[in-house]
Amino acid sequence: MVKLSSQGSRDALWYKNAIFYELYVRAFHDSNGDGHGDLPGVIQKLDYLQALGVDCIWLLPIYPSPLRDDGYDIADYYSVLPEYGTLDDFRRLVEEVHRRGMRIITDLVLNHTSDQHPWFQAARADRNSPYRDYYVWSDDNQKYKEARIIFLDTETSNWTWDAQAGQYYWHRFYSSQPDLNYDNPAVRQEMLNVMRFWLDIGVDGFRADAVPYLYEREGTNCENLPETHAYLKEIRAYLDQHYPDRVLLAEANQWPKDVRQYFGDGDEFHMGFHFPVMPRIYMALRRGDNRSLEWILKRTPPIPENCQWCVFLRNHDELTLEMVTEEERQWMWQEYAPDPRMRLNLGIRRRLAPLLDNDRRKIELANSLLFSLPGSPIIYYGDEIGMGDNIWLFDRNGVRTPMQWLPEEKGGFSSAPVDAFYAPMIQGEPYGPQRVNVASQQAQPGSLLDFTRRLISLRKANPILGWGDFTWLDAGCHAVAAYLRSDGTERLLILNNLSGELQPVHVLIPGLETATTYDIFNSTPGPGVANYRLELSLAPYAYRWLRLE
Ligand code: NOJ
Repeated sequence: MVKLSSQGSRDALWYKNAIFYELYVRAFHDSNGDGHGDLPGVIQKLDYLQALGVDCIWLLPIYPSPLRDDGYDIADYYSVLPEYGTLDDFRRLVEEVHRRGMRIITDLVLNHTSDQHPWFQAARADRNSPYRDYYVWSDDNQKYKEARIIFLDTETSNWTWDAQAGQYYWHRFYSSQPDLNYDNPAVRQEMLNVMRFWLDIGVDGFRADAVPYLYEREGTNCENLPETHAYLKEIRAYLDQHYPDRVLLAEANQWPKDVRQYFGDGDEFHMGFHFPVMPRIYMALRRGDNRSLEWILKRTPPIPENCQWCVFLRNHDELTLEMVTEEERQWMWQEYAPDPRMRLNLGIRRRLAPLLDNDRRKIELANSLLFSLPGSPIIYYGDEIGMGDNIWLFDRNGVRTPMQWLPEEKGGFSSAPVDAFYAPMIQGEPYGPQRVNVASQQAQPGSLLDFTRRLISLRKANPILGWGDFTWLDAGCHAVAAYLRSDGTERLLILNNLSGELQPVHVLIPGLETATTYDIFNSTPGPGVANYRLELSLAPYAYRWLRLE
């Protein structure tokens, strides 16, 4: 394990306690009235993100693309989708982000390109093209049978016949996204070149898409292979050598023990999403029972000190139920996706607020967990104001609708006629912009936005939440998730009542016979610890963050 001292200052480990914000450029703000959000539009809203307390923005793919997978099908790694602006706009964005003391990371899509990418076009047109070997071809569709299909609702095989090429090509996602062949050193070098290009512009790192699937090997499920880790370590070494202080965030939708491998010995990814904890937050909340959370947290191995989990409640995809049992999945669907249209692949295409019945208590509680469990939190755009979704839109588009800035029909998103919007604004009660928007919540103390801002500033004032150890505690009942964040000098006790009933709590605090406590959320003294024990009552869905003194 790499020791902190050899990794430089805490500053270089900025991601250990950063607040991330996932931003979909098309949805955020339209600066030129064409109905599509764009990079200048994002620049115009940076003050908003800064005031919210965001440290690092993650942009969904911004590259030229036929948009069969909303930009995750890249046709050119070195440019910007014209609807979003120009490379100069992007440079200006990076500069403006940095000027405000924030950081920005972009999506690095390693696993596949678009079938429209010139590499694939050349590859399919000519067996002797040097690009043929950039992709994975076969004369039949019988190889790698143990690899699962990810986009179950659309794809029936990971192989697609290409008439022009006269062979099948391999793809883990849509058939319009052929997988790159990482056995080819030229491909491995291409991706280092792509990284260098964006790092030279000044991005602070990458969220690396779909990393488990880079290599294929017969007789395996083609996920998390040693070859994949070896290449990812190469990427990291390159970054460390030329661009220290930048970050790599892994998207590996896997069990914690498998994601653990992506941290290596602190020499692979700096960060990794904690996928399995996410659905269990929803499970715990609906059941009013902490056991699913406890179960996964106890199965989350320690990670090197220079690494960090990234925790989230929602993102731009369906709420994935890949990391739960079949029985749990059925239960989650039944509880959270009663309308079959809410289901997509192995997940649920809904946003945070509708999932939690637009109940402010539940939304706050989920955020209390998000901001206090081990890891750096990431907020999905719009969730800070409680935006709704539109399950009737295609694929995952219903959770990617325009950001709601103002209380008016167009939500202050764009001046274009509404029928020119890239996607319809959420309409009507209770989620339309008249009700849910940034401006009104900015003007209203106690709004969800105000709460989110307070939560962020509290988190920043207590770095122990990013750095501290985590100890699960027995609260005397299953309805309460209780844990300690500590670092040798400080201790923070977090209590979350997952249930809709008043809960008497009796927590045993190891090693602390007596103490006073201070409620850092409400800035009031809390109940004392006597004889290693703290007792209090928690209102339905209430949470307390108590500093032990
Ligand atoms: C994961 C991304 O989050 C998702 O949106 C995309 O469709 C797949 N990877 C394929 O790139």
